[in-house]
Formats: sequence, C-alpha cells, structure tokens
Amino acid sequence: MRCIADSSLPPLREPDATPPSVPLRGFQLRDVPFIASIVADALNEHYDNSLYASLSDAWPDGFLVAPDSLGRPIGFLLGVCQVEGEGRVLMFAVDREHRRSGVGSALMDEFLERSRGRGLKRATLEVRVGNATAIRFYTRYGFSVVDLLRGYYSDGENGYQMARPLS
Ligand SMILES: CC(C)(COP(=O)(O)OP(=O)(O)OC[C@H]1O[C@@H](n2cnc3c(N)ncnc32)[C@H](O)[C@@H]1OP(=O)(O)O)[C@@H](O)C(=O)NCCC(=O)NCCS
Repeated sequence: MRCIADSSLPPLREPDATPPSVPLRGFQLRDVPFIASIVADALNEHYDNSLYASLSDAWPDGFLVAPDSLGRPIGFLLGVCQVEGEGRVLMFAVDREHRRSGVGSALMDEFLERSRGRGLKRATLEVRVGNATAIRFYTRYGFSVVDLLRGYYSDGENGYQMARPLS
C-alpha cells in the first residue's frame, strides 16, 4: 500500500487565517464510493472497495472522515497499526475543492490525538519526494524524513519515509 499524490503547489497562505471548526466522524460503509473517488483523483489509485472496510476493522478509530453538510466525505485519513507502538498514515487526502480550509489539519490533529490515546509512541508515513505540498504539511506537523525509499512508487518515483514522536 503506497501513499501517493500529485505535487501541485498551493496558492500562498493567508498569514492571519484562523482554522475553522471541522466536524469529523468515523468511517461508515456508505462512505466507500466517495472515498474511492477522492483516492482515484488525489492519489491516482484504485483499490477494491472491500479494502476500506477490512482496514477499518483492524483499528476503527484510526479511520477518520470529514463529511460535508450532507454527510458525504470530503476528506479522510486512514491510519493503521502494523508495527507495535507505531501509527502509520496509510492514506490521507482531501477533495481538491475543499483543500486549504483546515480539513487536512483537523484530520491530522485527531489522528495524532487518537494515536496518543492508544498509547502509540511514534507516527510514520510515506510520501512522494515530489509532493511538496504534503511534505510541507507534514513538516509543519513535526514529521521529519527518516529514510529515502528508492523506487518506492509504481512509476519509479522515490519516496520519503517521515516520522515523528507522539509524546
Ligand atoms: C495534504 C492534504 C491532505 C492537506 O489537506 P488540506 O485540507 O489542504 O490541509 P489544510 O487546509 O489543513 O492545510 C493545508 C495548508 O493550508 C493552510 N490553511 C489551512 N486553512 C487555511 C485557510 N483557512 N486559509 C488559508 N490557508 C489555510 C494550512 O496552514 C496549510 O499550509 P501549509 O501546509 O503550507 O502549512 C491535501 O493537500 C491533499 O489531499 N493533497 C493530495 C493528496 C496527498 O498529497 N495526500 C498525502 C499523500 S502522502
């Protein structure tokens, strides 16, 4: 499973922007078509629909959804625990029309909080070396590069593994 994305740069950030309140909830089966659509567009990946539910089963609290006013997902973060003491961000994306309005930050804040609540000590993720937007976002969240993953992505692009402590 690879976390991949485009590398388009965002517009400049408003210096005095205050983060809005973003409602979050857990994953529901009816979310799958919406999440699959976000994944196809933002991550350029197509997974079997059953994958989302099976990953959710392993750690339901690690799968976070940001819904719109009709309850449809506009962003999500799928976290897994595959290594003892570590939470891994397996998939993370916000619908492009809803980016840069605090949705991704709300999802990451909640994921880190739940990871601490579960007693995890470290958070990890993988990102394309060319995905400047995501790398800046993760750096702001205290992640730093711990490994270069050569040819990690299916098109041959290198990846970075990034990590941060949770204490
Ligand atoms: C990475 C990603 C999930 C971030 O989601 P997002 O909803 O845009 O995240 P936020 O809005 O919380 O933050 C994005 C930036 O907008 C800024 N921002 C947040 N709210 C803002 C607002 N109201 N006005 C202006 N800027 C704002 C944040 O400070 C942040 O800036 P920074 O990263 O330069 O520090 C999103 O860009 C995405 O889906 N990318 C494609 C998929 C991807 O790359 N996933 C990661 C794969 S490893």
